[in-house]
Amino acid sequence: PKKLKIGLFGFGCVGQGLYDILNKNENFPAEVIRICIKHPEKPRPIDLSYFTTQAQEILENPEINLVVELIDNADEAFLIVSEALKRQKPVVTANKKMLAEHLPELLELQKKHQTPLLYEASACGSIPIIRTLEEYYDNEHLYAIRGIFNGSTNYILTKIAQENVSYEVALRKAQELGFAESNPVLDVGGFDPKYKLCILVLHAFGLVVSPDKIFNYGIEQFSLQDLQYAKEKGLKIKLINHAERISKNEVAVFLMPQLIDSNHPLFHVENETNGVIVEAAFSQKQIFIGKGAGGHPTGSAVLSDISASLYNYRYEYKKSHWNKHLQFTEKVLLEI
Ligand code: HSE
Repeated sequence: PKKLKIGLFGFGCVGQGLYDILNKNENFPAEVIRICIKHPEKPRPIDLSYFTTQAQEILENPEINLVVELIDNADEAFLIVSEALKRQKPVVTANKKMLAEHLPELLELQKKHQTPLLYEASACGSIPIIRTLEEYYDNEHLYAIRGIFNGSTNYILTKIAQENVSYEVALRKAQELGFAESNPVLDVGGFDPKYKLCILVLHAFGLVVSPDKIFNYGIEQFSLQDLQYAKEKGLKIKLINHAERISKNEVAVFLMPQLIDSNHPLFHVENETNGVIVEAAFSQKQIFIGKGAGGHPTGSAVLSDISASLYNYRYEYKKSHWNKHLQFTEKVLLEI
């Protein structure tokens, strides 16, 4: 019998991607045994006996030893995740909004109930950036993380520039492909990447920063003409996140669209691909590139957490001890 019995919340793009990946991994010792959904009337591609609309059927099921939360409502997700942790069921989640808005409580719950909460899939889809930040840079002086953390907006900007389609058409395509959030304002307004930035700032610098403190500017204001103009000049517009030390004690955190030229390491990061640039004293500059949205790429990161839960992996949040002197600043650095 499979070792991990998963209770899954949500069966949208990522839930189905994960289900498919697990099916294709016959020897992987985990199986989904129950799926909690909100809309039982929707047609489903698998046997209906898996589904329930009652969260308790998962949370109170003693056979289920891992909860995987992949719904898109952040408030409901927080209730599910807190309840699972209180019952000492390990949790894997991809819910960046829920995580960013509740990091202090979630850190506390994990500690109190000695139960791991893993969320590699919550930031930059398939790129293994959280565990990398958590583990690789232990003894280094980490200066900055920058990058493209949202697949939908990068896809929209790429499509408009390459295919001359309108903003509306590009957004609709991003929705059809399952990249965009159910409320796409979270993507195009720069909120979704901001949540991811909060999560990465915690694992890079040990700083808990509330998303409402961070300046974000999205891409809604751009027209076909703006992107064509940039193209004529050999430039591209990208929505870029920043977390940078600006002094010994201060880390500036913000995101905004920027014009970049072909020398910029993110110039060729197109469509739903994300890119993360990390700068640290000894390793120097490193660049991580991979699909940032979509069922299979994000499902692969969820699978990595399920796998990590098999050997009781948990984040240690070590940076918050070493970096006690560091502070967040709302300052926005304007690059000229
Ligand atoms: N809406 C998100 C994006 C999904 O476009 O990046 C992946 O987090």
